[in-house]
Amino acid sequence: MNEISPPLALLAELTHRCPLQCPYCSNPLNLERGSGELTTAEWQRAIDEAAALGILQIHFSGGEPTVRRDLEALVRHAHDANLYTNLITAGVMLDAERIGSLVEAGLDHVQLSFQDSEPVGGDRIGGFKGGHAKKIEVARLIRAAGLPLTLNLVVHRQNLHHLEDLIAMAVELDAHRMEIAHVQYYGWAFKNRAALMPTRTQLEQATAVVTAARERLKGKVVIDYVVPDYYARRPKSCMGGWGRQFLNISPTGKVLPCHAAESVTTLSFDSVRQRPLGDIWRNSEAFNRYRGTDWMPEPCHSCDRREIDWGGCRCQAFAILGDAGATDPACGLSPFHDRLVHLAEQDAAGETPEFVYRRIGAG
Ligand code: SF4
Ligand code: FES
Repeated sequence: MNEISPPLALLAELTHRCPLQCPYCSNPLNLERGSGELTTAEWQRAIDEAAALGILQIHFSGGEPTVRRDLEALVRHAHDANLYTNLITAGVMLDAERIGSLVEAGLDHVQLSFQDSEPVGGDRIGGFKGGHAKKIEVARLIRAAGLPLTLNLVVHRQNLHHLEDLIAMAVELDAHRMEIAHVQYYGWAFKNRAALMPTRTQLEQATAVVTAARERLKGKVVIDYVVPDYYARRPKSCMGGWGRQFLNISPTGKVLPCHAAESVTTLSFDSVRQRPLGDIWRNSEAFNRYRGTDWMPEPCHSCDRREIDWGGCRCQAFAILGDAGATDPACGLSPFHDRLVHLAEQDAAGETPEFVYRRIGAG
């Protein structure tokens, strides 16, 4: 195998605790409790090891990272280690004072999630009363503090009819960027697939709305767009390839190649509590298992896209086929692609069931 380059970014999942209960949360079904979380000193050591490894950016995420009272200390530590610091938040626990102290600690950027363009849908999907109105207020405070803002907009069959309004809301809130991402089906979203899956027609309409908005807003707002795998012909390059660009540290210190990797129950993951981060990145069994192209089965192994999409998503292959080493069934060349399309069409055509909200014990 070629020499292993350092990762670009670290996703630091400080906690699984969160006041919201989104039914498409990418956290695992077995949520960690606060008592098992890494301490401030353990996170600071992990940040130092990340900087020594060559990582350039750190994304503080969760759950809801602002539930950690030491968030400012961790942002300051990362800033002092010359990392670009980004906060990924639902926003409902922020106020002007907390935003001010985060700016003072060296925070560079905020990504704020919205569940819908209006309060009834937003509060229902997030499972948190008053959440939408609070987010609008917090978005304005973030901009008033001079921080650049990205809106994270996860879309699915229960809010796609508001896509135009979501885009208008992002412009009105003076966001620099919006990430419009169709739900990716792992963890809680896999469990709620029938309540979330759009029809192919809804997807096509959404794509047309995004294309027109990109044209209209060129030079003003950047729009990133992630389509649902189930209707794709070729898979996405998930995480830019397993163990190539990113790593994730879970609230208890497990080091993962992606946010959903714990759903692959055939793998076990090392912890920053037991092993240095650089050693895990370079030498751990879980990272090396699907790194590069040697592990690939056919049709990937002889495919000319193998170093473009790296065989797609390991977590999706495991969720659908029970084999993380299979070609992602989102690929039209996979012998199981029809199975995936059939699942999507079946879900999209059926009744919309109630959400199974993300909470400890509901998985
Ligand atoms: Fe990608 Fe494998 Fe499909 Fe080729 S066969 S496009 S490498 S997933
Ligand atoms: Fe885990 Fe795609 S989400 S590899």
